[in-house]
Amino acid sequence: MSSAINIFLLLCLTLPSWCRLAEDIAYSSVNTNCVSERCFHQPAEACPKPESECRCRQLPYCKSAAVCCNVNARQLNEGLTCANISANGHVEALHIRNASLDILNVEDWRKLKYLRYMTITDGHINSVVGEFAKHTIVSCLNLSSNGIVNFENRSLVNLYNLSFLDLSHNNLSDVPRFKKEGNVTLDISGNKNMLCTNLFDALKRTELHFSNIQNTFCLAARTFHWFNTTEFLPLSQVIGIHEIRKDCRKNCSCEPERLYIVPGQLPIYAVAVNCSGQNLFSLPSSLPPNTIALNVSNNNITSLDLFSTDPTYQNIREFYADNNEITSVLPLEGSQFLSHFVALSLRNNRLKSVF
Ligand SMILES: *[C@@H]1O[C@H](CO)[C@@H](O)[C@H](O)[C@H]1NC(C)=O
Ligand SMILES: *[C@@H]1O[C@H](CO)[C@@H](O)[C@H](O)[C@H]1NC(C)=O
Ligand SMILES: *[C@@H]1O[C@H](CO)[C@@H](O)[C@H](O)[C@H]1NC(C)=O
Ligand SMILES: *[C@@H]1O[C@H](CO)[C@@H](O)[C@H](O)[C@H]1NC(C)=O
Ligand SMILES: *[C@@H]1O[C@H](CO)[C@@H](O)[C@H](O)[C@H]1NC(C)=O
Ligand SMILES: *[C@@H]1O[C@H](CO)[C@@H](O)[C@H](O)[C@H]1NC(C)=O
Ligand SMILES: *[C@@H]1O[C@H](CO)[C@@H](O)[C@H](O)[C@H]1NC(C)=O
Ligand SMILES: *[C@@H]1O[C@H](CO)[C@@H](O)[C@H](O)[C@H]1NC(C)=O
Ligand SMILES: *[C@@H]1O[C@H](CO)[C@@H](O)[C@H](O)[C@H]1NC(C)=O
Ligand SMILES: *[C@@H]1O[C@H](CO)[C@@H](O)[C@H](O)[C@H]1NC(C)=O
Ligand SMILES: *[C@@H]1O[C@H](CO)[C@@H](O)[C@H](O)[C@H]1NC(C)=O
Ligand SMILES: *[C@@H]1O[C@H](CO)[C@@H](O)[C@H](O)[C@H]1NC(C)=O
Repeated sequence: MSSAINIFLLLCLTLPSWCRLAEDIAYSSVNTNCVSERCFHQPAEACPKPESECRCRQLPYCKSAAVCCNVNARQLNEGLTCANISANGHVEALHIRNASLDILNVEDWRKLKYLRYMTITDGHINSVVGEFAKHTIVSCLNLSSNGIVNFENRSLVNLYNLSFLDLSHNNLSDVPRFKKEGNVTLDISGNKNMLCTNLFDALKRTELHFSNIQNTFCLAARTFHWFNTTEFLPLSQVIGIHEIRKDCRKNCSCEPERLYIVPGQLPIYAVAVNCSGQNLFSLPSSLPPNTIALNVSNNNITSLDLFSTDPTYQNIREFYADNNEITSVLPLEGSQFLSHFVALSLRNNRLKSVF
């Protein structure tokens, strides 16, 4: 449908009489016909004509929708007034293109109670401040391509109906906070200063779905010791690491230790598991896939039996079990571990026999 509208617009520019007819037909179409990918987005051709006195206009072919273009803060206010947008307040979809605002204060939008699609793109905005009102029903917020550097902590938390958030092509280093429950699809591609550590925190806060994963990267900035310098980590790997940490056994921590990249396949992480000092009486079972290091120091473990019986122990190359009650290393005999281990530490146990 949106491409049909583009054809209308094209015809409008070339054949004004046809255009009036087209507008009459299209006027009856409901708003959702102007919404693609759950968001409202208009091309630059939908802007008010350069000679128009008002910098905003309501779209005749798209119910309750409006476009404003090339505005600073004052011109935006004037535009919303001259196009009757602030007065009737019934606008549901608004696209502001090329706004130059040092600060975008979302509290200024409280009047527009019916706004469901809010799109402010391709402009210059330094930061977003204020807090959306609690009754705001915005479901798609597109703030793409504005060079935004930061959001105030609570700016977006009241958007309970939010389902799509496009923050692509800004200059964010952190993911702003938004509602904790529900399904939000986020696009944060093209933010060259996004820090992976902040992305991990965001993944911990909420269940996130991403759009444009293949174009999304973050700065690892020495987060992981296998990177010496500042490196861009693809989002798919950040999600992989998050899953490893999240699915870790209770009371243990799991950290990716090494990365194996096989072209054409998902990257594989070698995992180090740390269950030290947890009052364990036996070895933890069912370790994550590809566990290569296990630290169970400072527990009360008596037996190494799982080395010969639990298949998740077969890749372990480093095993640290100082300060336990281990009495025998017999279970290690004939195990995978014994044939390829790199480190083994069993200080301060109750060993009677050695190999
Ligand atoms: C953006 O708006 C400013 C006026 O605020 C104008 O000078 C500039 O040409 C516009 N940029 C584009 C790409 O339209
Ligand atoms: C704005 O609303 C007033 C009164 O409802 C109307 O007279 C005027 O034509 C409208 N202007 C536009 C641009 O729609
Ligand atoms: C958001 O705006 C950007 C920039 O104009 C555009 O490329 C993108 O397609 C929009 N996103 C959605 C989901 O409509
Ligand atoms: C924003 O939240 C972060 C993390 O919770 C906190 O460290 C920071 O102090 C907060 N900033 C403000 C201005 O409240
Ligand atoms: C917004 O969310 C509330 C509660 O989840 C729901 O009842 C309401 O229908 C939603 N409004 C819109 C316009 O989607
Ligand atoms: C992005 O933000 C950083 C500060 O966080 C600043 O140094 C840099 O100039 C900004 N880049 C652009 C393209 O605005
Ligand atoms: C959330 O939305 C995404 C995109 O629409 C979809 O792929 C995913 O299955 C949804 N998840 C849930 C739990 O609803
Ligand atoms: C990290 O730096 C050290 C010494 O500078 C070098 O030997 C090593 O190969 C580097 N590792 C990676 C992954 O680049
Ligand atoms: C985890 O540790 C806590 C406190 O040390 C303990 O109460 C709990 O039983 C442990 N859970 C498991 C599964 O070991
Ligand atoms: C292992 O876990 C213990 C207890 O939670 C913690 O004190 C220690 O710093 C961790 N060691 C490593 C190398 O992460
Ligand atoms: C194993 O855990 C203990 C206790 O947290 C810690 O002191 C030790 O450094 C760890 N060993 C390794 C090799 O990480
Ligand atoms: C577990 O071992 C610690 C020393 O590592 C000891 O203090 C504690 O009494 C032991 N607990 C039990 C129940 O044996």
